[in-house]
Amino acid sequence: MGSASLISYRIWLPADCKRFSIDSSCHWIRVTSALGYRKLQVKDKRIRAKTTMAHGHSSERGEGEGISRAFLSKFPYTPPPWATYLHPIPSHFYSLGHLPTPIHQWNLPGLPTNTEVWIKRDDLSGMQLSGNKVRKLEFLMADAKAQGADCVITIGGIQSNHCRATAVAARYLNLDCYLILRTTRAQVDEDPGLTGNLLVERMVGANIELVSKEEYARVGSVALGKLLEERLLKEGRKPYVIPVGGSNSLGTWGYIEAMTEIEQQVQEKKVPGITFFDDIVVACGSGGSIAGLSLGSYLSNLKAKVHAFAVCDDPDYFYDYTQGLLDGLNAGLNSRDLINIINAKGLGYAMSTAEELKCVTEIAETTGIILDPVYSGKAIYQMLKDIMENPSKWGGRRILFIHTGGLLGMFDKVQQLQPLIGKWQRLKVDESMFQADGIGKMF
Ligand SMILES: Cc1ncc(COP(=O)(O)O)c(C=O)c1O
Repeated sequence: MGSASLISYRIWLPADCKRFSIDSSCHWIRVTSALGYRKLQVKDKRIRAKTTMAHGHSSERGEGEGISRAFLSKFPYTPPPWATYLHPIPSHFYSLGHLPTPIHQWNLPGLPTNTEVWIKRDDLSGMQLSGNKVRKLEFLMADAKAQGADCVITIGGIQSNHCRATAVAARYLNLDCYLILRTTRAQVDEDPGLTGNLLVERMVGANIELVSKEEYARVGSVALGKLLEERLLKEGRKPYVIPVGGSNSLGTWGYIEAMTEIEQQVQEKKVPGITFFDDIVVACGSGGSIAGLSLGSYLSNLKAKVHAFAVCDDPDYFYDYTQGLLDGLNAGLNSRDLINIINAKGLGYAMSTAEELKCVTEIAETTGIILDPVYSGKAIYQMLKDIMENPSKWGGRRILFIHTGGLLGMFDKVQQLQPLIGKWQRLKVDESMFQADGIGKMF
């Protein structure tokens, strides 16, 4: 995978092809079918000139076979070898994310000297800052399209990152989007405004349907989704309902694939100096990411211990919920054996304490990494607390933290952040100063 420039190719593949990779000189295509793999020579220079594949943007796996990830295209899906016993296996995915995302060391302030933290930058997965959600949507959107949907419905809190990611992905794929957003009783009959995620959702033309927290608690997300689905069906639409957080068994494949990606990054030494991780740490909000991560870590060669910091509900709820996702894939595994779920809820879902926000701003100031206040911010706050309180548990460990994105949620916390962020003053410009010519005459 040589240069960073993109070369466009169109390849005609044999009908039995399940997966292919192309060598960097574009002389050979390696085609994998049900019977094994074979190498085909690219003979026709005219075909080579038209071929369609982004150099440096293919997700390779196994012994070099790979899936091309031409952006916004639909591809047949083949699971990693260790996941082939799971079923159902999705037939296709849409390449929506900019993958693989980088992994780099993260010198968090206050870490004990013998604890290493690395960070996987799923906040850089693209699709308008979609974070972890884009991985699930690659599979969910392919299913929506396969079912002939003309619109998608999903549901979440008023600042849901998942809802925003869905709205963007739907627009990219030419589907309309309906979002059921939960807000306070006082605000449910008002225009929801343009803060954070709402700005992006409304800019890409999503239809916002507000419900109060009380209605949500009384009826539940499934019944609300059904209510809107029935209304849209009566209007002649073909809706596809995506559950809260995209967390169903199909969406779980997103983080099964992420583990394949991490496994490759480690095995192929794409992260200099790294051959293993002891622990994987991530925030948990609806359970889909931890289901895929824990399953992938257990089944692949990674075998890292997965720690999930729950930002809502409680650990028992998430053990049961992820068990349902694992059972939905016929994994034959127990969620309690795979994941360590820790409570990081604090004041409650999407409610930040001053200490949590102080921790997030200190990390931004010292490392340049901005965490979101609702998920990763809470997870890291709680993780650092746990490291300080239980040094023997974390000492000598190499931890991989998955940054799941959610930056736009920070805009909802501007007022609370104000007293924590200082450092400004007026630059003193002496009246006797002379004008000097230079670039940048902007008026
Ligand atoms: C930014 C961010 N991080 C983490 C999560 C949690 O992921 P999951 O819903 O798969 O548990 C979510 C969504 O809930 C999210 O929006």
